[in-house]
Amino acid sequence: MNETAKAFTEIETVALDDADSAIVICDQTRLPAECTAVSLHTQKEIHDAIYRLMVRGAPAIGITAGMAYYLAAKEHLTNAPDLSAAALTDLLVKDKTYMASARPTAVNLFWALDRMERVYLSVKERPHAEILSVLRAECEEIKAEDIRVCRAIGEYGLTLVKPRDGILTHCNAGRLAAAKYGTATAPIYLGEERGYHFHVYADETRPLLQGARLTAYELYHAGVDVTLICDNMSASVMKQGLVQAVFVGCDRVAANGDTANKIGTSVVACVAKEYGVPIYVCAPTATIDMTCSSGAEIPIEQRRPEEVTDMWYQTKMAPDGVKVYNPAFDVTDHSLIAGIVTEYGIARPPYREAFQAIFAEKEQKQKEKH
Ligand code: MRU
Repeated sequence: MNETAKAFTEIETVALDDADSAIVICDQTRLPAECTAVSLHTQKEIHDAIYRLMVRGAPAIGITAGMAYYLAAKEHLTNAPDLSAAALTDLLVKDKTYMASARPTAVNLFWALDRMERVYLSVKERPHAEILSVLRAECEEIKAEDIRVCRAIGEYGLTLVKPRDGILTHCNAGRLAAAKYGTATAPIYLGEERGYHFHVYADETRPLLQGARLTAYELYHAGVDVTLICDNMSASVMKQGLVQAVFVGCDRVAANGDTANKIGTSVVACVAKEYGVPIYVCAPTATIDMTCSSGAEIPIEQRRPEEVTDMWYQTKMAPDGVKVYNPAFDVTDHSLIAGIVTEYGIARPPYREAFQAIFAEKEQKQKEKH
């Protein structure tokens, strides 16, 4: 792994450095104090960077996984130029299983790996140079597509709010969680370009502070009027009428609209319901998992107790030996969600039917393109 200090404006969340056979990420564990580009070369380095949240957020995890798949194929074919298609397939299956074990909740990780595998299987008998060129193009396309998708989400999201509205967001579903606009922040960035001047409230997002360290940081750098609040202040700002809409991202949406997102999202949704504020989930269709019929089927990542008891404190802030529960995500019930904003439009309840229409629209648009 090598590192370079950068200015935030010149750093990408995730980029492929093909000449160095590496993925270059902005190490998010060091923000906001340091903005550092880190080059990840091995599958283990990439896996650990995802697990440690050096690169995080559902779309960014998917983009990273796609690039990891390409780099794995490149490494195998460089080390053993005579490798047969069958042997390469076996190795890639192992690499894919390993990368998929980095984190369990964000479906984009599995979605991107499956997409890369499908493309690989369609060209596996071709010359090695061609296989690599197709895989490289595909992982770059996953990234380029994310930019288009988030922009479309931003356009639809913008129809749900008015200039000068107060918008609350939880965790980081921003530029640092994706390739460019983010999902929940896309309406905010597009609104900023068009003079909407939103007032954004960013929940700090315990225990890992993605809201404070990342969302407040990136919006502040972009010149957005952002105010940082602790997680237990959302009721206070909503009661005062300071928030007209909540926009959040998601890690996986079940077929019935139940949504897994950063722990605390469901608390925000309950508070929003109490104060009559609509909560919108911004979800690329890649994040909708129709194989999960409800949120009960979404695997929830459990993380280390120290993230709650020790992290960010000079001394431990809990008694030694106390039991700690640290789920990284919670599931917001579909009944609390006013709409799910995708790149093909806004899904409204009942979500199962709305998603079917959205996927049909997606298929139709893709057919027209080819
Ligand atoms: O644990 P993290 O930081 O990866 O959690 C991220 C979130 O919960 C985001 O809200 C979600 O991935 C959507 S990102 C566009």
